[in-house]
Amino acid sequence: MNVSIFGLGYVGAVTSGCLAELGHGIIGADVQQAKVDAFNRGFSPIIEPELDDLLQKAKREGRLSATTNAADAVAQSDASIICVGTPSLESGRLNLDFVRKVSEQISTVLRASGKKHILLFRSTMLPGSTRAMVTDFFEDLRAAGQVRIYYCPEFLREGTAVKDFREPSLAVVGTHDGKEPESDEAKQLLGGSPSVLGWEGAEMIKYSCNYFHALKVGFANEIGRVCKFLGEDGARVMDVVCSDTRLNISRYYMKPGNPYGGSCLPKDVSALLSLARQEGISLPLLDNTLDTNQAHLDLLIKLITGKGRRKIGLLGLAFKADTDDLRGSPMVAVAETLLGRGYELRIYDPSLNLSRLIGANEAEIQRRMPHLASLLKPGAREVIEDSELIVASQKCVAMEELGTWVKPEQAVIDVNGWRELKTLPWQYEGLCW
Ligand SMILES: NC(=O)c1ccc[n+]([C@@H]2O[C@H](COP(=O)([O-])OP(=O)(O)OC[C@H]3O[C@@H](n4cnc5c(N)ncnc54)[C@H](O)[C@@H]3O)[C@@H](O)[C@H]2O)c1
Repeated sequence: MNVSIFGLGYVGAVTSGCLAELGHGIIGADVQQAKVDAFNRGFSPIIEPELDDLLQKAKREGRLSATTNAADAVAQSDASIICVGTPSLESGRLNLDFVRKVSEQISTVLRASGKKHILLFRSTMLPGSTRAMVTDFFEDLRAAGQVRIYYCPEFLREGTAVKDFREPSLAVVGTHDGKEPESDEAKQLLGGSPSVLGWEGAEMIKYSCNYFHALKVGFANEIGRVCKFLGEDGARVMDVVCSDTRLNISRYYMKPGNPYGGSCLPKDVSALLSLARQEGISLPLLDNTLDTNQAHLDLLIKLITGKGRRKIGLLGLAFKADTDDLRGSPMVAVAETLLGRGYELRIYDPSLNLSRLIGANEAEIQRRMPHLASLLKPGAREVIEDSELIVASQKCVAMEELGTWVKPEQAVIDVNGWRELKTLPWQYEGLCW
């Protein structure tokens, strides 16, 4: 393919060198004459290991050129990749002016020439930006099948960018409807085995990754600050923490759903925070952990009460499935709030047997919901059939049974991502989707 690359900065220059290595012809486009001149001589405008060699080779083989003329670049290419900068404005808001400018230029050329084209947005843009660009500049061309448009976030790291392009940590293709594209053209320009999502999902993945990276740094540094106060080696502590790849560096605890609860997390988070406060150690990130959990619980309660149904059935009460531990369970907090507001409640939890609850568990229930026994039902069917709204926090009923017990006029709130629920003909809402 002949590919025009808009923006010859870190992303554009690396993309050019690496796509040239794969055999594509590259036409670079930038508003800065100096970058265009460097490219035309086969030199990279930025410092990045291996890049000059790749560009020199492409130049020798006649597969590299650059221009400041956007129309010329589009006219010579089958695909365009937009890698221009998306800096922050003074206010912190994202500035999409460069992406808009290039989108306008490309759409003008395509409309005038009638040529078919593939367009990849690669610059980092907030969810909704690709759709906004398409609406403003490309909708007629897309509807007519003249241009196919993808949003493919870039994940390279400066300093190892060429290596990262060859072996991407993640490859994502965003399509207008989230469906697998008919052609593998975007994959050819990305490499790897891309996950396919809608434009907004793909845009959100880029922000989720960068936010996660920033959070990781903040978390490690806050643990380091506590360690410094204790006279401990923070790097060693984090090294051991990271050696647990089952719970710590893993998918575990990484699925949006129930707020956390149980006998350990709320207690231990509070204990470390109170130590930090007492000793004057500033931990703003850790400090907000309790607040974010509460905000999630508040959202769940708002969703439930917002449905306007008075008879509520809870599937699952313990803080997670296969335990009868009610301490710190978010669903106990939900039940308590709903009862306090006069809702009718029925609860099913297959792991709960009130007559066997002893110790701290029993004390928790006696303190918070002494009449729990009258709300707990021995079977899920009774809870489901007598409720107008079912809140499923655990998969404690088989799908086939749910399918016959729940009626279309009932509503279901799916707390933990049991998304098969979505496929049945009732009113469905997920806590995080
Ligand atoms: N740098 C990274 O490590 C990295 C990694 C992943 C994603 N990104 C994202 O990729 C995008 C590009 O980042 P970058 O670091 O390469 O930016 P950069 O500032 O290094 O390069 C952007 C280039 O776009 C050019 N440009 C601006 N307006 C133009 C126009 N109208 N026509 C043609 N060229 C134009 C600029 O002259 C500049 O050379 C950003 O959205 C960034 O957030 C960057």
